[in-house]
Amino acid sequence: MHMNKLTIEDIPIKGKRVFIRADFNVPLDSDLHITDDTRIRSTLPTINYGIDEGAILILASHLDRPKGVDPRHSLAPVAKRLQRLLGKEVQFAPDCIGPQVQNMVARLKPGDVLLLENLRFHPGEKKNDESFAKALADLGVDVYINDAFGAVHRSHASTTGITQFVKTKACGFLMKKEIAYLEGAVANPARPFVAILGGAKVSGKIGVIENLGKKVDKVIVGGGMAYTFLKAMGNDVGNSLVEDSMLSFAREIMEHAVERGIKFYLPVDCVVATSMDPGAETKRVPVQEIPKGWIGLDIGPASVHLFT
Ligand code: 3PG
Repeated sequence: MHMNKLTIEDIPIKGKRVFIRADFNVPLDSDLHITDDTRIRSTLPTINYGIDEGAILILASHLDRPKGVDPRHSLAPVAKRLQRLLGKEVQFAPDCIGPQVQNMVARLKPGDVLLLENLRFHPGEKKNDESFAKALADLGVDVYINDAFGAVHRSHASTTGITQFVKTKACGFLMKKEIAYLEGAVANPARPFVAILGGAKVSGKIGVIENLGKKVDKVIVGGGMAYTFLKAMGNDVGNSLVEDSMLSFAREIMEHAVERGIKFYLPVDCVVATSMDPGAETKRVPVQEIPKGWIGLDIGPASVHLFT
């Protein structure tokens, strides 16, 4: 299949300063240990290719959703893990822009790897602020590579803004793989073709829901967004996350699915808690019996069985 996107293989990177936007938004426990490094591992093909080709690599990512600089959201643990996975030194910059980081970049040699500190320590990242985007490009970036598949739906300075300040840009191997997979899966799916939707919000996924709705045989909804659908069906969902502005959209989606003969599945039971705190009391209840004041936070065992 032909992909109409330029990839890192299509452009010369030898000796060039290559800025790779990765998604290293990995889960950390309270001791700041990485509990799942899948996202780091999935970017290794792009990073290793860059090293092998003799590029100078500047890696950047966000981690979580910090409000300003916060040591608990530092990418330092990622630098350590990456160093172990690559089997070579990964330098770590204390910031992602500014003269000190520029100096670090200027000293890098072909094959060197520098990881920048959390992009979201600067409010300009999420605001897609032009001067912040330019400050990233001003690190001396020759080539921009986006391999942050998990963040590609965001229009932030490091995913969108920076591209206007860098002439040569392309996607990495993870992005290539995911796009090829998605194109193949959607154009020529093995049936039954099932869409599994989750995440907090219905509103952020209207386009995806409408598009996939035309192609799939079944839809399974989990995650936070399930409670908007459950409420739209008349359930009392307690203090669960609900987008009240999306209730009629959710109802329409379910009605359209039925009209088209698409099977539409919502959780039948859930795990509820009195709060989001790790020590909070929890119990499993049918979705019809979420107690007042409790919050639905996960699907229950009957739903796991049903969806499986
Ligand atoms: C994710 O974990 O979904 C991505 O890294 C994007 O993170 P965000 O939802 O905070 O933008």
